[in-house]
This record gives sequence, C-alpha cells and structure tokens, in this order.
Amino acid sequence: MRIDFQCLPLTLDPSFLSQRTVVVIDVLRATSVIVQALSQGALEIIPVMTVEEAFSKAKSYSSGSTLLGGERGSRKIEGFDFGNSPREYTAERVKGKRLILTTTNGTRAFHAVSGGKEIIAGSFFNLSASAKRCLELGSDLLIYPSGDEGRFSLEDSVCGGMLIDRIIRQNAHRSNLTDASQSAYLLYQRFKDNLVEALRLSTHGQDLVARGFEEDLSVCVQVDLTDVVPVFREGVIRAFPIPSKKER
Ligand code: MLT
Repeated sequence: MRIDFQCLPLTLDPSFLSQRTVVVIDVLRATSVIVQALSQGALEIIPVMTVEEAFSKAKSYSSGSTLLGGERGSRKIEGFDFGNSPREYTAERVKGKRLILTTTNGTRAFHAVSGGKEIIAGSFFNLSASAKRCLELGSDLLIYPSGDEGRFSLEDSVCGGMLIDRIIRQNAHRSNLTDASQSAYLLYQRFKDNLVEALRLSTHGQDLVARGFEEDLSVCVQVDLTDVVPVFREGVIRAFPIPSKKER
C-alpha cells in the first residue's frame, strides 16, 4: 500500500483520487465533530460549503428531523443549532437527527476529494478504527488534511502521522511512504507523547484559545474513543459500522 499525504488542501486530479482511499482530517474541529456526532447516534451528516446552502437544504427535510451545525470564524452561526465544538454533540441532542454542517475548511475538504474511491473522516477519536478500515480496503491511501484556509495545518499532520504509524505497525512490509507521508510520520514522532502540545503550537489551535475554545484542544486529542468510521458517499456522511448502544 502506497501511503501519500497531501501537505496543502489543493484540488487533485480525479484519476489520482479515484484509485485511492482518502482520509480527510480536520482535528480542530470538523472531523472531530463528525466522528463525535455519528458515534452519539446522529443519523447522517450533510457537509455543505455555505451558510445559505445549509439553510436551503434544511428546508427540504421535515421540521424536527434536521439540525444545523458549524462555524464561521470558529463561532456558531446565527440561526444554527450547534457551533463546531464536539462537546455540543451529545446523544441527547443528536440521536436520530440529520445534521447539516458547514465549516471553514473541513466540510470544504470533503467536496475537494469527492472523487475518491472511499472517503473517510479521520480524527484522533477514531484513529485505530480508521487505520483498520484503510487496511481492510487495501487500496493506496491519501491522507488529506483540511488545512487552515489553504495553509498547512500542524495538528492535522500530526494526526495523519499517527494514522500512518498505526497502519505501518500492521503492514510494515507492504507500506510504501512518500516524502510527504514520511514527513507527517516524523512529525508525529516529535509530538506523540504530548499531542496537545502540537495543537497549542498550531495557528488554528491558538485562534481557538484566543476565541474561548481552549477546552476543545484537550477534548480533540483523545485517542480511540470510538470504532465509528464516517464514510462520505454521494454528498452524505454516514457511520460505518453503525455505533453500538454502548458507545452512544
Ligand atoms: C474548519 O472546518 O475550518 C474548522 O473545523 C474550524 C473550527 O472549528 O474552528
């Protein structure tokens, strides 16, 4: 398995994507929210690009079935039910509900890689489960950090490096790293004993602290809280496998 890592969130050639499992990572905080919401029993998540699209999409579903979540400038959007902190997405609030989510980088990243063979949402919360799923699928892998408004993101790269670590531990002889994935792997080695340090050093981590969301940094570095692997197909993200009652 060739493991590649996308350093910047750029548009990629469809023929490259269609051969690969793609893992989208936005530790702070979109994929952490997606994994959390689905593990708490949310029915499905529809990632959209704009606030207007979120409101208009919500109108096509029966009232009470669908909730709006996301952020702009890290803050909850006026008229939305949730912001973008995983702490908000409890079973009491999301179980059985459809979520329409729009965030600055994370939801955009899913659309950027929509031509992938299988598209997974990865985070520290579902790290080992994501690694296991990538190994089961067996295709070449592209780890796609959502970045920070087009820039490199330290926290997503460390999480991507940890995913690589988990995969090569089980697939040592058959994994082939590129320079980019090797770099993410080495970056993870630097922070593996103190993951929150990477989040504190990151630009987006510092923005979140300044905006009053410091607690989300220590929340988002929790490893292996769930076996849920969110899969993005035809515009919708659903849990694979369906979470057990114990997890909710
Ligand atoms: C994003 O998608 O850009 C992030 O999740 C932003 C955030 O949570 O502040």
